[in-house]
Amino acid sequence: MNSTTKIGRRPLLAALGAASLMSLPATRALAQSKVVIKFSHVVAEHTPKGQTALKFKELAEQKFPGQVEVQVFPNSQLFGDGKEMEALLLGDVQMIAPSLSKFDRYTKKVQLFDLPFLFDDMDAVDRFQASAAGKQLLESMTNRSILGLAYLHNGMKILSTNKDKLQRPEDVRGLKFRIQASDVLQAQFKALKANPQKMAFAEVYQALQTGVVDGQENTWSNTYSQKFYEVQKTIAETNHGVIDYMIITNQKWWNGLPDDLRAGLDEAMTEAAAYGNQIAADLNARDRQAIIDANKAKVVQLSREDLQAWRDAVAPVWKQFEGDIGRDLMDAAIASNQT
Ligand code: LMR
Repeated sequence: MNSTTKIGRRPLLAALGAASLMSLPATRALAQSKVVIKFSHVVAEHTPKGQTALKFKELAEQKFPGQVEVQVFPNSQLFGDGKEMEALLLGDVQMIAPSLSKFDRYTKKVQLFDLPFLFDDMDAVDRFQASAAGKQLLESMTNRSILGLAYLHNGMKILSTNKDKLQRPEDVRGLKFRIQASDVLQAQFKALKANPQKMAFAEVYQALQTGVVDGQENTWSNTYSQKFYEVQKTIAETNHGVIDYMIITNQKWWNGLPDDLRAGLDEAMTEAAAYGNQIAADLNARDRQAIIDANKAKVVQLSREDLQAWRDAVAPVWKQFEGDIGRDLMDAAIASNQT
């Protein structure tokens, strides 16, 4: 037997069950076989998600020396947006961390996070994710064998375009924007009378560079690490929404792990996500400054009146999705804006 058991294709417990029919040495050999966890993601390594994946690898391998190997694949190297969920369900990878905007094929509830201007800041997002309503969402896709292990922060979104003026909603009228695969984000840009186009993350730079789209929304961290700021003229600090992640696993695979291994990996993930959440704000602040220093795209500040105009323009989106998301969940999110 190969010393590396591909757990994703063959649950360890099932393998151990089969081993009960074997001789003792054979059972031991199997029990000692290494668990390989493939963790695939779409962003650069020096981002909150990239750093969290590496921290999980460090902690998991420390806890289970020689027993667990975590292989991290950044930058859509292994699977991009379109394929990573399917790969998880097929057992080709064991962990991924899609942005919360990429789940609407699996649950309508997680669309909550895309509602524009729902959360005042990252502290509110944090409070909501730690609440009972927030935690419940981690288990909202178990009927599809998708289990959320933890939330992870990136940060608030900014808006960028290839135009000189980006101050008020009317400045984006008629422009083409790349969006993540989210119907809420589509509605948001339609409310602004712009043209949204769903597109995988790995394709955005080229689409901006060649003018296939005029603009995009993302965090400072992604805007910097993907060099979007080099092919955009103006960035407005709208903070109109959030890009956060759910670190997910294939529930069937996860439940097939021996209890002690599952508990240890769960602990390692909780610790890694806490680490990621702690550094996310600093990484975004660092990348914001790097973009300003690079002096390629102009960063514009918005006044209170400007921000109110953006809020008013996208306000109808909430009503549009209230039925899918549920008023109670929206109320719980709104309540998290109060300390
Ligand atoms: C995007 O697709 O714009 C981002 O959410 C990618 C990511 O995972 O941060």
